[in-house]
Amino acid sequence: MAYTLKINGRSQTVDVDDDTPLLWVLRDVLGMMGTKFGCGMALCGACTVHLDGQPVRSCITTVDSVGTGEITTIEAIGRTPAGQRIQQAWIDLEVPQCGYCQSGQIMSAAALLAANPRPTDTDIDDAMSGNICRCGTYVRIREGIKRAAAGGSGRTGG
Ligand code: FES
Ligand code: FES
Repeated sequence: MAYTLKINGRSQTVDVDDDTPLLWVLRDVLGMMGTKFGCGMALCGACTVHLDGQPVRSCITTVDSVGTGEITTIEAIGRTPAGQRIQQAWIDLEVPQCGYCQSGQIMSAAALLAANPRPTDTDIDDAMSGNICRCGTYVRIREGIKRAAAGGSGRTGG
């Protein structure tokens, strides 16, 4: 069946089965390889994208459930204020190690910051607990979110 999806501000029409995971639409049909496959079972967060600004696991989000929702992927998150600040903090602090989990980490972090510009440690833990990093970059991820929050608020501290 044909679906017209709103992805990163553009309409894209794809012809796929109703239960095709959004992850495979992005990667296999549209060639957008920034969103990663990790577990395929909503357990690792590598496949995180935004649907109407909310972080969702694209490996378990079927294409027929997306409707007219606005999808944002790692390819475009840098165009949002929160995404831009997160990506700059990730560069400044050299957050990634192997990098495989990091597009999902950035998508979850950007959603957190957009919703909560001054997250506490608990807020960060809650928002990021579903994103697994086998390289153990968790300390730098937390610092990156704090740096992005401090830089984006126009205030110091945090
Ligand atoms: S691949 Fe989707 S949560 Fe792991
Ligand atoms: S940076 Fe390697 S899995 Fe997270």
